[in-house]
Amino acid sequence: METSFENLISSYIDHNVGVSKDFLTEDLAHNLRNNILKLYKEQLLKTAGIGRLDTFVKNKEIRSDVIYWLDKKNNNPHELAFFEHIENFILYLNKECYTGITGYEFHYALYKPNTFYKRHLDQFQDVNNRQFSMITYLNLNWKEGDGGELMIYNKETSLAIRPTNRKTIFFKSNELEHEVLKTNEMRLSITGWLRRD
Ligand code: OGA
Ligand code: MN
Repeated sequence: METSFENLISSYIDHNVGVSKDFLTEDLAHNLRNNILKLYKEQLLKTAGIGRLDTFVKNKEIRSDVIYWLDKKNNNPHELAFFEHIENFILYLNKECYTGITGYEFHYALYKPNTFYKRHLDQFQDVNNRQFSMITYLNLNWKEGDGGELMIYNKETSLAIRPTNRKTIFFKSNELEHEVLKTNEMRLSITGWLRRD
């Protein structure tokens, strides 16, 4: 566990974008993937908004994924295991990097073929409690040509990240603009933010 935490943090420190190939165990990734497929079948994934409260708008021109928030109240054992893992990561991060994270929020996200999320920053204009963005992909057998790359614009360079199974990405929410390119296949992930409230 500590090794994957360490890999995620040290790649973040070196390149502004942290990457881990094994942040979640295979079992947990498998179970969370089944959760999202079940939610999809039950039509519980909903169009996501942009902005918050009165600025909250649903704008399919900007993003066209569907989401469902993880919640301890759901009492789902795999969500609870995921939260426990995130809490351990936060303890580690706060200890090693004095980041002062006090909370978190995560949602499942599903991009149907031909959907995308245009270039954006993850912080709302009126609140800045989102410190770090974290995304883990749950796509078995993602192939060249399937699209759906996460583009991260990092000063002069940009990075195209393929959403392959169990890959976790970690970056500062208010610093790096990023975009999800149009996907050709159904694209699954858990996306969230570590917050300082
Ligand atoms: C987001 C986001 C990136 C991805 O949900 O804010 O940028 O790769 N997601 O899914
Ligand atoms: Mn984003």
